Amino acid sequence: MSHYKIALLDGDGIGPEIMREAVKVLNLVAERNQVTFDLQHTPFGASAYFECGHPFPEQTQKVCDEADAILKGPIGLNHEDSKKIPVDLQPERGALLPLRRRYNTYANFRPVFLPQGLAHFSPLKKEIIGDGVDIMIIRELVGGLYFGEKETGTTEDGVRYVRETLEYDEEQIRRIAKVAFDTASKRKKVLHNIHKSNVLKSSVLWNEVIEEVGKDYPDVKIEHILVDAAATYLCLNPGRFDVMVMENMFGDILSDQGGGILGSLGLMPSACIGDDKAYYEPSHGSAPDIAGKNVANPYSMIGSVAMMLEFSLGMEEEARNVWHAMQSVFADGYSTPDLSKPGSDVKMIDTEAFGDRVIAALKKQPVPARA
Ligand code: NAD
Ligand code: IPM
Ligand code: MN
Repeated sequence: MSHYKIALLDGDGIGPEIMREAVKVLNLVAERNQVTFDLQHTPFGASAYFECGHPFPEQTQKVCDEADAILKGPIGLNHEDSKKIPVDLQPERGALLPLRRRYNTYANFRPVFLPQGLAHFSPLKKEIIGDGVDIMIIRELVGGLYFGEKETGTTEDGVRYVRETLEYDEEQIRRIAKVAFDTASKRKKVLHNIHKSNVLKSSVLWNEVIEEVGKDYPDVKIEHILVDAAATYLCLNPGRFDVMVMENMFGDILSDQGGGILGSLGLMPSACIGDDKAYYEPSHGSAPDIAGKNVANPYSMIGSVAMMLEFSLGMEEEARNVWHAMQSVFADGYSTPDLSKPGSDVKMIDTEAFGDRVIAALKKQPVPARA
């Protein structure tokens, strides 16, 4: 019997609520597949700061170091509450970026996916959204402005300033390019390279390396698109994209735009992959505006479980079953409030009921044959 240690970082805001539903799914997956998951909840984020004085405490680092995979809920506070924590210990700078750096999770997969039949969730017109959306955004996750040198100071004239640097070297670009080409060659064999080489020199190098790596993938066509134009095309014709690769900050912004195209950030799971370790998290934040109300959509968190089953635990077939189970809840006409607007035919259910329906649907899926 396989045995996996999984670190669970519930996080802040809606984190614990959507993690609860993900844990139900993990327990059922274990039972169905006769594997054991040793699930270890461990503090992370603002809640960890208030509990233990640090948003990424040593005990959590240890649990993560020893885990086979890490499942992370969103972290963060609303704008006002953030000010209660010193800037460098705020959960984004003090926990999330250190987590990414610690495990060098440079490849962030952010699927923007709405299958045929659920296209009505998108705010885009029918003639634009067509049969649904299926884009894989591949975001470089440990470089660029996020991790560049920073300097804060005051000039002799008393003017406050901040200097932040955007840096990439060719090794960093090459490894994410390989991930992107590998992904594109398994899909539609087109790679949209998103850049800003008309201004940023880092993009000039980025594009050069993309083309160099592309020589090893002669069957994949490269389309270079400036990031600002890409933002427009995503709204006007999302169907033109399949795999998109981009640097850290561009990926942050365009992936949230992807959530908008689907109809909710609650539909955005993600996988953050390094060479030795991976962690899985929703792309969205802690949604302070709806926290504690049992209304958040747990799809992003359960989808992150599906990605973990596929990428880290070699359980591809069960991962597909989890996706199908979640989509069948929507297909049956149910959703959390983010996708069941007044006047729509969608029946509104809460976070817990959504999880229960996923469980019921997963129980109906055939159990994968054991390897
Ligand atoms: P957000 O992503 O938390 O919320 C934006 C909007 O999307 C809100 O209206 C929210 O209600 C909605 N939303 C998000 N997830 C949802 C879900 N599962 N179901 C239904 N609706 C959902 O962005 P924000 O409000 O700008 O940020 C809040 C905090 O989250 C900030 O502190 C930010 O730094 C942090 N954050 C953390 C992560 C992370 O942990 N990876 C990612 C993004 C933002
Ligand atoms: C995300 C978030 C983070 C990012 C923040 C919270 C640091 O927005 O995961 O998309 O910008 O990477
Ligand atoms: Mn973001």
